Amino acid sequence: MSEPFIVSENLVKIFKVADLEVIALQGLDITINKGEMVGIVGTSGSGKSTFLNIIGGLLTPSAGTITVGGRDLLKATPAELDRYRRDEVGFIWQQSARNMIPYLTTEENIALPMTMAGAERKAQQEWTKELLDATGLYDHRKHKLAQLSGGQQQRVAIAIALANRPTLLLGDEPTGELDSATADDVLALFQTLNERFGLTTVIVTHDQQVARAVNRVITVRDGRTSSETVRRSGQKTVASELAGTTSFDEYVVIDQVGRLQIPPEIQEKVQIGKRATLSLTEDGDILIKRVEADRLVEQAMPNLPEMGDGAGPNITKRTWKFWKR
Ligand SMILES: Nc1ncnc2c1ncn2[C@@H]1O[C@H](COP(=O)(O)OP(=O)(O)O)[C@@H](O)[C@H]1O
Ligand SMILES: [Mg+2]
Repeated sequence: MSEPFIVSENLVKIFKVADLEVIALQGLDITINKGEMVGIVGTSGSGKSTFLNIIGGLLTPSAGTITVGGRDLLKATPAELDRYRRDEVGFIWQQSARNMIPYLTTEENIALPMTMAGAERKAQQEWTKELLDATGLYDHRKHKLAQLSGGQQQRVAIAIALANRPTLLLGDEPTGELDSATADDVLALFQTLNERFGLTTVIVTHDQQVARAVNRVITVRDGRTSSETVRRSGQKTVASELAGTTSFDEYVVIDQVGRLQIPPEIQEKVQIGKRATLSLTEDGDILIKRVEADRLVEQAMPNLPEMGDGAGPNITKRTWKFWKR
């Protein structure tokens, strides 16, 4: 059946800026199947672009593993990565200007990557024509960037990304600068292309609306996978989306070592402290229960000051509670 195409395990990316270390990804586990269309959502700074750039071969992870189509991106040589980026990956950015060259026409922009890859002229013309048709841009083939609307510019970006017949299409906030109706059109185009060319498609966005177009939404929080929503089977059309009749099942994601994230809304509601008890129910499910004593201490000492001045050990509320027992 579905075969895993992108597999990231325990992926870590640390950026060093001067003396500071920013942990952008802290053990991200994501598997995306061949031909799947997936949305990755999360607030700004959660690590979405970092992950996409790693899949696209533009960034090297600090630790963990990432394979795409069986290719281990950490072991690839620079020359192999160049080839991978050129032949396997189509990238679409939020800003249209980053996707195309302003003084070329739509069709020249689409043909350019083929020329650079040394494709034969006749093949170039045929594929350009097919891409113009597939993206609904044939009538705009002689237009330049400034003569196109925002939605049309992103269609050109998508056609350019497909020029070298990639197996993987990556969009980083590709609808970020579009109004919601145009964004829906562009997402519908991603969906059409995903089905027509069997392209594995990953769209990163902070906009939950992406759920309209994809089969699965992965939510990333603080550089880790937190939850997944999966479209109920048999509900896959844009029409059912626009009519608002599609429903999703939401799951929490458990990583390889058994960690999961409890969403902040639920933590808030249940008022769970720093510890909980886990037990098995008769039905074989896992029950997570708050520890009453923790809540009482928390309530009695809401603002216990952090002790220590850097010279000695810092005594935090948490260690204090531990000693108290
Ligand atoms: N080149 C970089 N240098 C330093 N820090 C970075 C760099 N790129 C991203 N970061 C940091 O990594 C974290 C994740 O960033 P990013 O992947 O861009 O998040 P998102 O796309 O979800 O908004 C943020 O804290 C961001 O500031
Ligand atoms: Mg980003």
